[in-house]
Amino acid sequence: MIIAANLKTNLTREKTAKYIAEVESFLSKNSISEEVFVFPATSSLNSHSGAVVVGAQNAYPTTNGAFTGEIGYEQLEEFGIKTILIGHSERRHIIGETQEELVKKFNFYKELGFKIIYCVGEPLEIREAGFDSMMEYISAQYEGIDALYENLIVAYEPVWAIGTGLTPTNEDIVAIHAELKKKSSAPLLYGGSVKVTNAAEVLALDGVDGVLVGSAALYAEHFCTMCEYA
Ligand code: G3P
Repeated sequence: MIIAANLKTNLTREKTAKYIAEVESFLSKNSISEEVFVFPATSSLNSHSGAVVVGAQNAYPTTNGAFTGEIGYEQLEEFGIKTILIGHSERRHIIGETQEELVKKFNFYKELGFKIIYCVGEPLEIREAGFDSMMEYISAQYEGIDALYENLIVAYEPVWAIGTGLTPTNEDIVAIHAELKKKSSAPLLYGGSVKVTNAAEVLALDGVDGVLVGSAALYAEHFCTMCEYA
Protein backbone atom coordinates (compact mmCIF):
# COMPACT_ATOMS: atom_id res chain seq x y z
CA MET A 1 0.00 0.00 0.00
CA ILE A 2 1.05 3.58 -0.60
CA ILE A 3 0.28 6.27 1.95
CA ALA A 4 1.01 9.85 0.94
CA ALA A 5 0.64 13.14 2.78
CA ASN A 6 0.24 16.35 0.81
CA LEU A 7 1.02 19.10 3.30
CA LYS A 8 0.12 21.81 0.76
CA THR A 9 1.00 25.34 1.98
CA ASN A 10 1.27 24.32 5.63
CA LEU A 11 3.96 23.90 8.28
CA THR A 12 7.32 25.60 8.63
CA ARG A 13 10.67 23.92 7.93
CA GLU A 14 11.11 23.16 11.60
CA LYS A 15 7.63 21.71 11.98
CA THR A 16 8.01 19.66 8.79
CA ALA A 17 11.31 18.19 9.98
CA LYS A 18 9.66 17.24 13.30
CA TYR A 19 6.68 15.80 11.43
CA ILE A 20 8.82 13.58 9.22
CA ALA A 21 10.94 12.47 12.18
CA GLU A 22 7.80 11.52 14.10
CA VAL A 23 6.39 9.53 11.18
CA GLU A 24 9.69 7.73 10.67
CA SER A 25 10.02 6.84 14.31
CA PHE A 26 6.46 5.44 14.26
CA LEU A 27 7.14 3.40 11.11
CA SER A 28 10.26 1.90 12.56
CA LYS A 29 8.78 1.16 16.04
CA ASN A 30 5.80 -0.55 14.45
CA SER A 31 7.79 -2.30 11.70
CA ILE A 32 5.62 -0.70 9.03
CA SER A 33 7.19 -1.10 5.63
CA GLU A 34 4.51 0.47 3.42
CA GLU A 35 5.59 3.05 0.85
CA VAL A 36 5.16 6.38 2.65
CA PHE A 37 5.47 9.72 0.87
CA VAL A 38 5.38 13.24 2.28
CA PHE A 39 5.00 16.27 0.02
CA PRO A 40 5.97 19.32 2.08
CA ALA A 41 5.88 22.97 1.05
CA THR A 42 8.74 23.85 -1.30
CA SER A 43 10.51 25.82 1.45
CA SER A 44 10.67 22.65 3.54
CA LEU A 45 12.29 20.45 0.90
CA ASN A 46 15.56 19.19 2.24
CA SER A 47 18.04 16.37 1.74
CA HIS A 48 16.51 13.36 3.35
CA SER A 49 17.61 9.77 3.69
CA GLY A 50 15.01 8.21 5.97
CA ALA A 51 12.17 5.75 5.34
CA VAL A 52 9.75 8.47 4.27
CA VAL A 53 10.10 9.49 0.64
CA VAL A 54 10.00 13.27 0.39
CA GLY A 55 8.57 14.63 -2.85
CA ALA A 56 7.91 18.02 -4.43
CA GLN A 57 4.36 19.36 -4.69
CA ASN A 58 5.36 21.16 -7.85
CA ALA A 59 8.31 22.18 -10.02
CA TYR A 60 8.73 23.80 -13.39
CA PRO A 61 9.75 21.70 -16.40
CA THR A 62 13.25 23.14 -16.60
CA THR A 63 16.66 22.46 -15.18
CA ASN A 64 17.11 26.15 -14.36
CA GLY A 65 16.57 29.50 -16.04
CA ALA A 66 14.44 32.62 -15.97
CA PHE A 67 11.16 31.39 -14.47
CA THR A 68 10.50 33.75 -11.60
CA GLY A 69 8.90 32.14 -8.61
CA GLU A 70 9.45 28.58 -9.83
CA ILE A 71 11.97 25.90 -8.97
CA GLY A 72 13.49 23.47 -11.44
CA TYR A 73 15.40 20.24 -11.53
CA GLU A 74 18.65 21.84 -10.35
CA GLN A 75 17.01 22.87 -7.07
CA LEU A 76 15.33 19.48 -6.61
CA GLU A 77 18.53 17.63 -7.40
CA GLU A 78 20.37 19.54 -4.68
CA PHE A 79 18.12 17.84 -2.15
CA GLY A 80 17.99 14.47 -3.90
CA ILE A 81 14.27 14.88 -4.65
CA LYS A 82 13.16 12.32 -7.23
CA THR A 83 9.39 12.34 -6.69
CA ILE A 84 6.85 14.92 -7.82
CA LEU A 85 3.09 15.52 -7.71
CA ILE A 86 1.68 16.60 -11.06
CA GLY A 87 -1.88 17.62 -11.95
CA HIS A 88 -3.20 18.19 -8.45
CA SER A 89 -6.63 19.77 -8.58
CA GLU A 90 -5.40 22.92 -6.83
CA ARG A 91 -2.74 23.36 -9.54
CA ARG A 92 -5.34 22.78 -12.25
CA HIS A 93 -8.21 24.82 -10.81
CA ILE A 94 -6.64 27.51 -8.59
CA ILE A 95 -3.29 28.09 -10.31
CA GLY A 96 -4.83 27.39 -13.73
CA GLU A 97 -2.37 24.86 -15.12
CA THR A 98 -3.60 23.48 -18.42
CA GLN A 99 -3.41 19.89 -19.61
CA GLU A 100 -0.77 21.02 -22.11
CA GLU A 101 1.40 22.48 -19.33
CA LEU A 102 0.94 19.38 -17.23
CA VAL A 103 1.98 17.16 -20.11
CA LYS A 104 5.19 19.21 -20.54
CA LYS A 105 5.89 18.88 -16.85
CA PHE A 106 5.12 15.15 -16.93
CA ASN A 107 7.41 14.51 -19.89
CA PHE A 108 10.24 16.58 -18.47
CA TYR A 109 10.28 14.78 -15.11
CA LYS A 110 9.62 11.42 -16.73
CA GLU A 111 12.76 11.86 -18.84
CA LEU A 112 14.65 12.38 -15.58
CA GLY A 113 13.21 9.15 -14.17
CA PHE A 114 11.17 10.84 -11.45
CA LYS A 115 8.44 8.98 -9.62
CA ILE A 116 5.33 10.90 -10.65
CA ILE A 117 2.10 10.96 -8.69
CA TYR A 118 -0.31 12.19 -11.34
CA CYS A 119 -3.68 13.42 -10.09
CA VAL A 120 -6.99 13.26 -11.89
CA GLY A 121 -10.53 13.98 -10.79
CA GLU A 122 -13.77 15.70 -11.70
CA PRO A 123 -15.51 18.80 -10.33
CA LEU A 124 -19.03 18.52 -8.92
CA GLU A 125 -20.94 19.68 -11.99
CA ILE A 126 -19.27 16.98 -14.06
CA ARG A 127 -19.99 14.35 -11.43
CA GLU A 128 -23.63 15.42 -11.45
CA ALA A 129 -23.75 15.07 -15.23
CA GLY A 130 -23.47 11.27 -14.82
CA PHE A 131 -20.91 8.46 -14.93
CA ASP A 132 -20.17 8.62 -18.66
CA SER A 133 -19.57 12.38 -18.66
CA MET A 134 -17.40 11.98 -15.61
CA MET A 135 -15.27 9.27 -17.22
CA GLU A 136 -14.98 11.34 -20.39
CA TYR A 137 -13.74 14.30 -18.33
CA ILE A 138 -11.21 12.18 -16.44
CA SER A 139 -10.07 10.47 -19.66
CA ALA A 140 -9.15 13.89 -21.05
CA GLN A 141 -6.82 14.31 -18.08
CA TYR A 142 -4.86 11.28 -19.34
CA GLU A 143 -4.32 12.89 -22.75
CA GLY A 144 -0.63 13.25 -23.55
CA ILE A 145 0.38 11.36 -20.42
CA ASP A 146 2.35 8.11 -20.72
CA ALA A 147 0.04 5.87 -18.70
CA LEU A 148 2.54 3.02 -19.04
CA TYR A 149 5.42 4.95 -17.45
CA GLU A 150 6.99 2.56 -14.97
CA ASN A 151 7.45 5.18 -12.24
CA LEU A 152 3.88 6.42 -12.42
CA ILE A 153 1.38 6.41 -9.58
CA VAL A 154 -2.09 7.80 -10.33
CA ALA A 155 -4.23 9.51 -7.69
CA TYR A 156 -7.97 9.81 -8.22
CA GLU A 157 -9.11 12.87 -6.30
CA PRO A 158 -12.63 14.13 -7.00
CA VAL A 159 -12.37 17.93 -6.76
CA TRP A 160 -15.59 18.18 -4.73
CA ALA A 161 -14.23 15.75 -2.14
CA ILE A 162 -11.02 17.67 -1.46
CA GLY A 163 -11.09 19.38 1.91
CA THR A 164 -14.88 19.19 2.12
CA GLY A 165 -15.48 16.17 4.32
CA LEU A 166 -17.46 14.65 1.43
CA THR A 167 -16.42 11.40 -0.21
CA PRO A 168 -17.88 9.28 -2.99
CA THR A 169 -19.61 6.10 -1.86
CA ASN A 170 -17.42 3.02 -1.59
CA GLU A 171 -19.26 1.60 -4.62
CA ASP A 172 -18.40 4.71 -6.63
CA ILE A 173 -14.74 4.56 -5.68
CA VAL A 174 -14.59 0.90 -6.71
CA ALA A 175 -16.39 1.56 -10.01
CA ILE A 176 -14.23 4.57 -10.95
CA HIS A 177 -11.00 2.84 -9.95
CA ALA A 178 -12.00 -0.17 -12.07
CA GLU A 179 -12.39 2.16 -15.08
CA LEU A 180 -9.10 3.93 -14.37
CA LYS A 181 -7.28 0.61 -14.02
CA LYS A 182 -8.20 -0.05 -17.65
CA LYS A 183 -6.19 3.04 -18.62
CA SER A 184 -3.09 2.30 -16.60
CA SER A 185 -1.75 -0.52 -14.53
CA ALA A 186 0.05 2.02 -12.31
CA PRO A 187 -0.79 1.91 -8.60
CA LEU A 188 -3.96 3.93 -8.05
CA LEU A 189 -4.54 6.05 -4.94
CA TYR A 190 -7.76 7.57 -3.72
CA GLY A 191 -7.66 11.12 -2.31
CA GLY A 192 -10.32 13.49 -0.99
CA SER A 193 -11.37 13.79 2.66
CA VAL A 194 -9.54 10.66 3.75
CA LYS A 195 -9.18 10.73 7.51
CA VAL A 196 -8.50 8.41 10.42
CA THR A 197 -12.15 7.38 10.62
CA ASN A 198 -12.51 6.28 6.98
CA ALA A 199 -8.96 5.40 5.89
CA ALA A 200 -9.12 1.70 6.80
CA GLU A 201 -12.38 1.30 4.88
CA VAL A 202 -11.07 3.11 1.80
CA LEU A 203 -7.79 1.19 1.84
CA ALA A 204 -9.71 -2.09 1.87
CA LEU A 205 -11.65 -1.29 -1.33
CA ASP A 206 -10.98 -3.17 -4.56
CA GLY A 207 -8.67 -1.25 -6.86
CA VAL A 208 -7.41 1.08 -4.15
CA ASP A 209 -3.63 0.79 -3.81
CA GLY A 210 -3.24 3.59 -1.30
CA VAL A 211 -4.39 7.05 -0.28
CA LEU A 212 -3.27 10.64 -0.81
CA VAL A 213 -4.22 12.66 2.26
CA GLY A 214 -4.36 16.43 2.76
CA SER A 215 -5.85 18.07 5.85
CA ALA A 216 -6.07 14.94 7.99
CA ALA A 217 -2.38 14.26 7.39
CA LEU A 218 -1.32 17.57 8.94
CA TYR A 219 -1.16 15.89 12.33
CA ALA A 220 1.66 13.37 12.29
CA GLU A 221 -0.22 11.23 14.79
CA HIS A 222 -3.23 10.93 12.47
CA PHE A 223 -1.04 10.25 9.45
CA CYS A 224 0.78 7.52 11.41
CA THR A 225 -2.52 5.86 12.28
CA MET A 226 -3.41 5.80 8.59
CA CYS A 227 -0.02 4.25 7.80
CA GLU A 228 -0.84 1.57 10.35
CA TYR A 229 -4.11 0.76 8.54
CA ALA A 230 -2.28 0.16 5.27
O1 G3P B 1 -3.71 15.83 -2.27
C1 G3P B 1 -4.54 15.52 -1.21
C2 G3P B 1 -5.79 16.26 -1.23
O2 G3P B 1 -6.01 17.16 -2.20
C3 G3P B 1 -6.90 15.79 -0.43
O3 G3P B 1 -7.11 16.79 0.51
O4 G3P B 1 -7.80 17.67 2.67
O5 G3P B 1 -9.39 16.35 1.27
O6 G3P B 1 -7.51 15.20 2.36
P1 G3P B 1 -8.02 16.49 1.78
